Amino acid sequence: MADDNEVLFEITRKHLNTGMRGFPVGSCRTSKVDPQEGVSYVGYPIKELAERAPEEVVYLLLHRELPSDEQLGAFKADLRSRMGVDPKVIELLKGLPREGHPMEWLSSGLIFLGMTSKTGDYAEDARNVIAWAPELVAAIFRIRSGWGDPIAPKPELTLIENFVHMLGVPGADPAKIERILRVFYVLHMDHGGGNLSTFTGKAVASAHTDIFSSLAAAMCGLYGPLHGRANQDCLNFVRKVGSSDPAKVEEFVRNELASGGKIFGFGHAVLRAEDPRATIQYGVGQEICPDDPLFATALTLREVAVKVLKEFPKVSNPYPNVDAVSGSLLNAMGLTDSNYYTVLFGLSRITGIAAQIVDERLRFRGGKGAPIVRPKYFAEEQPPRSLS
Ligand code: MLT
Repeated sequence: MADDNEVLFEITRKHLNTGMRGFPVGSCRTSKVDPQEGVSYVGYPIKELAERAPEEVVYLLLHRELPSDEQLGAFKADLRSRMGVDPKVIELLKGLPREGHPMEWLSSGLIFLGMTSKTGDYAEDARNVIAWAPELVAAIFRIRSGWGDPIAPKPELTLIENFVHMLGVPGADPAKIERILRVFYVLHMDHGGGNLSTFTGKAVASAHTDIFSSLAAAMCGLYGPLHGRANQDCLNFVRKVGSSDPAKVEEFVRNELASGGKIFGFGHAVLRAEDPRATIQYGVGQEICPDDPLFATALTLREVAVKVLKEFPKVSNPYPNVDAVSGSLLNAMGLTDSNYYTVLFGLSRITGIAAQIVDERLRFRGGKGAPIVRPKYFAEEQPPRSLS
């Protein structure tokens, strides 16, 4: 039994304005991030879940148990019965400006879904948004890229088969895209309670805002280049390296660092070892696209960038993170426009955030739910004044 009076962290003035880095603010039942071992979902290390059916892992986050065959069948049937985004939402998407980023579209789409389709019941809305998100994201790809009208879901398909069917990527092999997206979806679902998008989603929901608007706010956080949008920048970085030759890659990395540039895909706020989600994806790449030139560059960076970054004592984590190779795999499988990588991340992360919102709203504190988020800020450079 945890001791309620245990001191977890001592806050001093030097901790102010540091992004609450490491501050204990709550507990999380869906996942845990260990600096060395990486993420586990409800106790299962991510490497044991990476190749499981995505629906099983969604069930795990929502119910904190892996499903039996019977439970899985019933859960898939439940998700299928919910499919079908309100056509008004699709029409609203068609009016959005193409120059908007796909993540701006995703946040808008979630708001539209809330306006047309929320029930106000967090558990029910969580399941609905998980069932609708693939259709919403596929419609964003198709409408924004000008691939054509959105494609209706086929309820007989699995969640990711359906997503790939609805994407209808021109000229690409759906089986290849499905292979990578199944793993990508499972790996990105959840990462503890304190990452920015998850924290934001829960904070907004703490005002008893509905799950759609809470997730829209979360996706605005994920859109930031220091958070989810880093996966798009990472592929652009790998493209810029332009070679998989170790000597050339090392020269590139050293030049980037010397000119104050960043080595994208390396380092993490919490992790202090290679992210197991990166390790898994390197393995998948060896299997599905070993000869792809960008994958080869990403593999060389895995050795060379780590070696060079270790020379800098200030770098607390020189190891690859989840973004280091994901873009190279998506690109090799036919999803070549990196502007869309963060919506793929968002599609998956919606599940973990929704599951955590349900916990905070309906299960914590004996079912009363966690109160509204209201941290304290100290007044700085505001000595008392008076007009009288
Ligand atoms: C991640 O998936 O690595 C994150 O959302 C970033 C974090 O944990 O802060």
